[in-house]
Amino acid sequence: MLVLVSISVFRGLAALERPSPKLQAEDRDQDDRGGKKIANRTFLSLSQITALSEENLEGVEKKMEEFLNLTQLKTSFKESVLLDYYTAGFWWAKEMNFSLIQLSGFMDLLNFALENLSGKRMTLGDNLKELERAMTGIRETESEERSVFDPNSFSIEQAKAIIDYLVTSLFKHYKAYEYLFHSRREEPVISNELTRLLEDFRTI
Ligand SMILES: *[C@@H]1O[C@H](CO)[C@@H](O)[C@H](O)[C@H]1NC(C)=O
Ligand SMILES: *[C@@H]1O[C@H](CO)[C@@H](O)[C@H](O)[C@H]1NC(C)=O
Ligand SMILES: *[C@@H]1O[C@H](CO)[C@@H](O)[C@H](O)[C@H]1NC(C)=O
Ligand SMILES: *[C@@H]1O[C@H](CO)[C@@H](O)[C@H](O)[C@H]1NC(C)=O
Repeated sequence: MLVLVSISVFRGLAALERPSPKLQAEDRDQDDRGGKKIANRTFLSLSQITALSEENLEGVEKKMEEFLNLTQLKTSFKESVLLDYYTAGFWWAKEMNFSLIQLSGFMDLLNFALENLSGKRMTLGDNLKELERAMTGIRETESEERSVFDPNSFSIEQAKAIIDYLVTSLFKHYKAYEYLFHSRREEPVISNELTRLLEDFRTI
């Protein structure tokens, strides 16, 4: 199922044949700072993205903790998973040499996908469909809610890599994330099962 859907996402991407985007990060950053491309609802601000991009892995984790306002890391399994999710995602994108704008877009995407799972309780299939829509820029005509995410800031190759990344991280572990976000209360003490889940997350 996962494989089938991701193949259809790839087909959608291939069919688009977008002109190859200009990926000159620095130039675009200047242009975009006016707020035309970057809507006001980005997950992390451009200055936060910039600060993160200057850090090593440990530094990214520390700053992410601060930016996400995670104050219960020692006792909250949920917070530690969130920190891992966003830190690992950011680090992956950084190693992909994404520009600041691309990093910002990618973090939005990570945030949307997780919000759609946790807040909207979207099923795996629906979430993948939303991802496809986000990545191909296809929007339903009646929906005026325009995503912050701009697929045109990524090349097809990068878009494929992003889908791959999401499929092998969040989507592959969808059940574990659902369990984590939909369980009725936060487990203050990490049980054996949760420890196993945590190990699962750590291998992402
Ligand atoms: C975003 O900015 C627009 C105006 O540029 C404003 O109408 C809208 O309410 C803002 N949205 C949020 C979530 O701040
Ligand atoms: C951070 O989270 C705490 C509760 O965990 C909350 O009281 C506080 O207002 C939050 N701060 C910001 C800046 O969101
Ligand atoms: C990113 O840039 C570094 C240094 O320029 C290079 O070694 C590496 O292969 C690049 N990675 C990707 C995924 O393009
Ligand atoms: C999450 O769902 C909303 C619509 O409910 C959609 O606009 C957004 O693109 C989705 N995000 C992802 C990453 O799937």
